[in-house]
Amino acid sequence: MEKLIELKNIEKVFKSHKLISVKKDDYVAVKNVSLDIEKNTIFGLVGESGCGKTTLARSVMLLDPPGSGEILFNGTNIAALSGKDLKPYRARMQIVFQDPNSALNPKMSVYNCMKEGLVNIRYPRDKIRFRINELLDLVGISPGHAERFPHEFSGGQKQRIVIARALSMEPEFLVLDEPVSNLDVSIQAQIINLLLDLKDEFSLTYLFISHDLNLVSYLSDQVAVMYKGQIVESAETEKIMESPLHPYTLRLFSSAPGQEKNELFEAEEGYSDGLPDGFTYFPPCAESLLRLIDTGDGHKVGCYAFNGS
Ligand SMILES: Nc1ncnc2c1ncn2[C@@H]1O[C@H](COP(=O)(O)OP(=O)(O)O)[C@@H](O)[C@H]1O
Ligand SMILES: [Mg+2]
Repeated sequence: MEKLIELKNIEKVFKSHKLISVKKDDYVAVKNVSLDIEKNTIFGLVGESGCGKTTLARSVMLLDPPGSGEILFNGTNIAALSGKDLKPYRARMQIVFQDPNSALNPKMSVYNCMKEGLVNIRYPRDKIRFRINELLDLVGISPGHAERFPHEFSGGQKQRIVIARALSMEPEFLVLDEPVSNLDVSIQAQIINLLLDLKDEFSLTYLFISHDLNLVSYLSDQVAVMYKGQIVESAETEKIMESPLHPYTLRLFSSAPGQEKNELFEAEEGYSDGLPDGFTYFPPCAESLLRLIDTGDGHKVGCYAFNGS
């Protein structure tokens, strides 16, 4: 399998806004994240709210570039590019956010929202109308409604329009950051099915982000679990579902709303089930670094060495 995206040691620190910068107030939102996304697959990233998923997504898209690390797109480190060298890559990767309302300008018709991007990539002007109709049709929006404004559509329809606009750039890679979390449950499955169809039709590669491990495992070929800015476990979906290792992954699997937190995760220092001798899921000292070790067949789990090295 060929890798489309490789993240290497991505780190994102939000500086404290105090006038006199105090380093201890800096907030490490994404810490040392490395992962590979194979072409034409879905990579699921899961973790609870605030763990750094959107920050990582924005870093990958270079909307808010990472402080350090590499983002390889087909082998090219795009984090090191700028200006006209970066521009072609910007079109090749697109993002769909959770809230379609903030993605669509309320003062612009759907037609004009979509035209902007096409003009930007110098799409032939005389073909723009045809192209927009084709894209709307593709996502299940009647092209006859192109002159309408965003508020005239439902949440699900707005998300379809956002997806159509992303596709207008003819991307290879889509970051889907909780694309159905704001939608009614009845609509969620429709949008998910649309995304799956589009992936097949256009040979797309997805980074699918969600707080919902069940949804992520249903969709993804590969799953990574994020906790406090770090990946704590990643594997092929079947492996992580059949034998989740990290206590946090176990907690995500068992956490229905209102359920007690997994006590294993909260309390038991030194818990080390499924790890080789000398490793633990919890740090023996505050300074020790989380490392991902491969427990076999690419099933990686974050843990600490006893000696802290
Ligand atoms: N621009 C920012 N400045 C400072 N802190 C931020 C900024 N964006 C996000 N954060 C913080 O980074 C952490 C991760 O946020 P986010 O990436 O949005 O998490 P998630 O998408 O997993 O819910 C949160 O604690 C959030 O408050
Ligand atoms: Mg988010």
